[in-house]
Amino acid sequence: MSNSAIILAAGDGKRMRSARPKVMCEVLEEPMIGWVLDSVSGAGISDENIGVIVGSGADIVKEYLAKRGGFRTFMQNERKGTGHAVMQAEEMLVKGDNVLVICGDSPFVNADTIAAALNEHTYCGNDVTVLTAELPDPADYGRIIRDSEGRFSGITEKKDCTLEELQITEINSGVYWFRAETLKEALPKLSDNNAGGEFYLTDTVGIILDNGGKAGTFKAADPGAVLGANTRADLLQLNIIAKMAVIGKLLEEGVEFVSTDGVIIGKNVTVGRDTKILPGTIIRGNTIIGENCVIGPNSLIENCKIGNGVILNNVQAYDSRVSDRVKAGPFVQLRPGTILHEGVKIGDFVEIKNSEIGVNTAVAHLTYVGDSDVGKGVNFGCGCVTANYDGINKYRTTIGDYAFIGCNTNLIAPVEIGENATTAAGSTITKSVPPDSLAVERAQTKIIDHWEKNSKRIKKA
Ligand code: UD1
Ligand code: CA
Repeated sequence: MSNSAIILAAGDGKRMRSARPKVMCEVLEEPMIGWVLDSVSGAGISDENIGVIVGSGADIVKEYLAKRGGFRTFMQNERKGTGHAVMQAEEMLVKGDNVLVICGDSPFVNADTIAAALNEHTYCGNDVTVLTAELPDPADYGRIIRDSEGRFSGITEKKDCTLEELQITEINSGVYWFRAETLKEALPKLSDNNAGGEFYLTDTVGIILDNGGKAGTFKAADPGAVLGANTRADLLQLNIIAKMAVIGKLLEEGVEFVSTDGVIIGKNVTVGRDTKILPGTIIRGNTIIGENCVIGPNSLIENCKIGNGVILNNVQAYDSRVSDRVKAGPFVQLRPGTILHEGVKIGDFVEIKNSEIGVNTAVAHLTYVGDSDVGKGVNFGCGCVTANYDGINKYRTTIGDYAFIGCNTNLIAPVEIGENATTAAGSTITKSVPPDSLAVERAQTKIIDHWEKNSKRIKKA
């Protein structure tokens, strides 16, 4: 016996007015389905026991799922409702299991809530346990119906509610724990005879009760946990809530914000204390930032590991590692595979790609370093370029410790510059340079005397 989960993600999100499937719409730069997957995994359900119902934009959803390691998917060719969606994954309903059904558009349902609802479900011996919440404005959510003794008797969709039922403030979160075999028996009994003309999963509650089964509810301690997004306005609201929740947590951990304008930090980001985050900064993915850094203004950091005392001013950095006391910016791009060792200085208009830069090396202005291994204490003059690509293949450039790359040097890879060597400004280096030497690879100056004396330009001046 094991627990499994079915995530409903086939809907097209008409109300979102997006060409993307709704579950791919993002909260804090992460698709909503990504949040749901994190929570489901966090509640202890292993990846092989997670099935996702896909339909609208299935390829886009599947591509995202593949990036996350891959999950079982079930195709729902026509969108005939949440009950019909679950029918597609019937083979996941294995006798003896408990199965979680969760909507892919409710990103804030957290792992603890899912686990607590399961505890309630097994403790009470329920056939179905619905996660509910008390909302001052029940909006479009399905309403939790109770009999005169307060016993849970079913869920009614807003469209099908009487005026009286519309006043109910306890709502259905769209998260359920079912005994698998009971759900399997209930699904064929669903009908689409309702205002939406759909097979509602919510009707399984009434069916289970009619068959003498046991239905219960588990009310979320934090009503915010159940919020879903159907429209762009809902999505913006979720983004605002999530943004402040992440920043609030970081504030408690000693991170400094002078303003939160334009600041977006993903929920899986960690930041050390006394680090200051300046306006216009987006930090996403699995980024780890150390202590005493200044990040921003106007920076974008994705999947990076940043050490302590680092200054990143107007930097875009992706899949890179930055060690302690590095100073980079303004207007710097660190592309995937960049490793900057301690004390490196990267100045304005510099791009580094797939390169390792040694301790205290300076790349101060207008330079491209790609596919290179650069030693420590190297100095790049202004405007240097590693020509790493011949149009077909890419080659590496190697630069030894304390080399001095003169201004406007082109290094035509593959090429190696020895330790302590210097390249003369304006050189296009095509051959490897031995240690301690000076390489000059440029035309000699040729002087033509009196060339301008009778020129039109001088006469005009
Ligand atoms: C649903 C619930 C409602 C609950 C709300 C919570 C039903 C009938 N209603 O309403 O009681 O308060 O969620 O957020 O279940 N989906 C499919 N295939 C379909 C239809 C939907 O996979 O044919 C997926 C959608 O992609 C979405 C989820 O199921 O992720 C919920 O569907 P949605 O249409 O958003 O349901 P709500 O109207 O929000
Ligand atoms: Ca919804």
